[in-house]
Amino acid sequence: MSALAVSRVAPAPGPQRFRPDFWWGAATSAYQIEGGVAEDGRAPSIWDTFSTGPGRVDGGDTGRRAADHRRRYREDVALMADLGLTAYRFSVSWPRVLGTGLDFYDRLVDELLGAGIAPVATLYHWDLPQTIEDAGGWPARDTSHRFAQYAATVAERLGDRVRLWHTLNEPWCAAFLGYGSGAHAPGRRDHAAALAAAHHLLLAHGLAADALRAAAPGAPVSLALNLGVVRPLTPAPADVDAARRIDGLLNRLFLDPLFRGGYPADVLADTARVSDWSFVRDGDLAAIATPVDALGVNYYQPDLVAGNRPEPDPTTPYPAASDITFHRTPGPVTGMGWSIDPAGLREILLRIRDEYRDLPVHVAENGAAYPDRVDPDGRVRDQERIGYLRTHLAAAHEAYTAGVDLRGYFVWSLLDNFEWAYGYGKRFGLVHVDYATQVRTPKDSALWYRGVIRAGGLPTG
Ligand code: FCB
Repeated sequence: MSALAVSRVAPAPGPQRFRPDFWWGAATSAYQIEGGVAEDGRAPSIWDTFSTGPGRVDGGDTGRRAADHRRRYREDVALMADLGLTAYRFSVSWPRVLGTGLDFYDRLVDELLGAGIAPVATLYHWDLPQTIEDAGGWPARDTSHRFAQYAATVAERLGDRVRLWHTLNEPWCAAFLGYGSGAHAPGRRDHAAALAAAHHLLLAHGLAADALRAAAPGAPVSLALNLGVVRPLTPAPADVDAARRIDGLLNRLFLDPLFRGGYPADVLADTARVSDWSFVRDGDLAAIATPVDALGVNYYQPDLVAGNRPEPDPTTPYPAASDITFHRTPGPVTGMGWSIDPAGLREILLRIRDEYRDLPVHVAENGAAYPDRVDPDGRVRDQERIGYLRTHLAAAHEAYTAGVDLRGYFVWSLLDNFEWAYGYGKRFGLVHVDYATQVRTPKDSALWYRGVIRAGGLPTG
């Protein structure tokens, strides 16, 4: 029986309190914070290639120090402890592990445990070793098997101390942004390849779940999906159908094979002109449906969609969907231009329980970028971020009181970091990072979050 299979705990008293053992976390990923790209015998990843190549997105960070976390991890764990975090979600860099990088994660995990913080490890947060991309990348089936071997290697070393494993982070992004629109590494634009990548990522998850459990018996296994609510712009049939199709490709393409044992028939039909799905082999669906112990939900924004786009959209990440337009919902947006819709988080948490499985869930990422600056008095006054986090936590609490087995909430992100295609321009951290000096400054939101953690939930006001 896995460590997560403990009984449900009733909400603690008080209007917006969570269970006493709730994981109050923050999340990061290796490529976004570590730097140290040449240390530990680390091999290049697809993001090294993508962010330093033509159209570079590294913002001139030629040493690729990012937040220099590879060297400053002790200071960063001390920051986490100071905020009162009870869990920390980080990712293990596959290309670093191909060298001697496991030593680093070994030290990080011990440092976390020493500070009373539960280590939550993600095995794949998009930094595929370049050599594996050169051999075909995620559209190639062999990558799933290589991933399972890597998972076993990491679990053999860290499995006695990691408290929860996420095999994958957001396979939708890895497949559709990496191989469909090309907005992310490796920058390929081939929708058929993107569908194969999605399948091989899911297969990799299933194979890795078995490998993790074999290497570390009882290891709790999860994965983090970027899920969202998809709403039609108008009640017109074309818009309603667009919402069905995008919901299929964003949510059900991943949830159905994980929890129902097969791909949704409408998604197969919608994408038939792009791919015949012959990459799905006997036994794959059973491997993907290997039961998980928990599910991570990464939630940022809703999708508001319309059909009948006048000109096809050649940049869409979604296969067979170039006729669909994406709109902003009315109201404020974050620094990413993303619509703010906390109710969507409640809806998606309830949907998982009601339509898929009543299992332990974590909000594995939630947060917002704003153009923060350090004021002359040393403070970062990020009131908008506090508003974003407060309303989303309140929505998560509504799902919790409605009976969703919510076990934790992880703010994206602990630190300002490398925001993929946007480089360093977008700041998501609770803690501000001056990239020139690497000075860390907890923002007002960090101090607010510390208060929430101390109270065990949102203050009643
Ligand atoms: C998610 C990613 C994470 C970060 C946030 C803003 O899609 O998992 O690395 O970029 O978005």
